[in-house]
Amino acid sequence: MSDPLLVADNIHKTYRMGRTDLQVLRGCSLKVQPGEFVAIMGKSGSGKSTLLHILGALDAPETGEVYYQGQRVCHPETRIARIGHAADRVVRALQWIVVVLLILLYLIGLPLFIAALIFFPPVREHVVPVGMVLIGGLGLLPVQLALLLSRLILTDCTEHRRIRLRRNTFGFVFQFYHLLPELNVLENTVIPRMIRTWPWLWFRDRRSARADARQTLETVGLTERLKHRPSELSGGERQRVAIARALIHKPAILFADEPTGNLDAAAGRSVMDVLCKLHREGQTIVIVTHDPSIAEFADRVLHLERGQLQA
Ligand SMILES: Nc1ncnc2c1ncn2[C@@H]1O[C@H](COP(=O)(O)OP(=O)(O)OP(=O)(O)O)[C@@H](O)[C@H]1O
Ligand SMILES: [Mg+2]
Repeated sequence: MSDPLLVADNIHKTYRMGRTDLQVLRGCSLKVQPGEFVAIMGKSGSGKSTLLHILGALDAPETGEVYYQGQRVCHPETRIARIGHAADRVVRALQWIVVVLLILLYLIGLPLFIAALIFFPPVREHVVPVGMVLIGGLGLLPVQLALLLSRLILTDCTEHRRIRLRRNTFGFVFQFYHLLPELNVLENTVIPRMIRTWPWLWFRDRRSARADARQTLETVGLTERLKHRPSELSGGERQRVAIARALIHKPAILFADEPTGNLDAAAGRSVMDVLCKLHREGQTIVIVTHDPSIAEFADRVLHLERGQLQA
């Protein structure tokens, strides 16, 4: 058997509402193999969405670990993680201060000083102190390097790994679509590609991204709806746009939270057809549902009961 793609180990999650604690997950563990289609079932309020958000790096567990390809996805919500996160913010602020100082010193100060040297000869008397300031400014470069290194060290307790996984590796289909109403189908689908590049690279890549979006929309059977806004689509079509959006960056794992929950039988069937086709092509899928007829499509069904997963 190959190494599991995703491992959740003894996940606990408690929501704190004022003085009352709502213990939703009480030690959930699971392993997902590459190419597997896993369904998680449970009644409403049992914590399915909570668990899927933690597996999909949208949320952090209170205790327990999630590993993707053997690498820890995120630090649990511990005191150390909170301190690490705060430290990361301070380091990031310091990095910006250093960058601004370097810009002031070399991109603005240095050209101004050279111009003054040429056009106002009396300034030459100050060459030595200004030169010392400029040379001293070079000391900011090792400081910047040290700050960069400290951020790398802090990575383990910060959200960076989770952000990277969400952006590059995981695809998430939400129960209520979460499409942007102002954008059409093609634009909604292309968003994940847009946010993973710098603006100037997006200008270069936009054509290939749109071509990929068209191809993905074809996979989910929406070629005829590219210019439609979400409000001009049926529920099943909206959900298929949400699936296309989750697929455009070719995620290693597709997470789907009740993808048929708000659809009638026919629309639900069309969404499941798409997911089954993707699964046959090798896509790893983790789905949450309360509907046994949907779970039947999966290779393996787990039940979430009293905060724990049972086969
Ligand atoms: N952010 C939150 N703050 C406090 N309590 C929450 C929060 N999110 C969820 N809960 C509570 O945690 C429990 C589990 O919620 P969750 O959304 O995971 O359930 P679910 O199994 O997905 O339900 P459904 O099938 O209705 O979608 C619920 O009782 C809910 O009220
Ligand atoms: Mg839910």
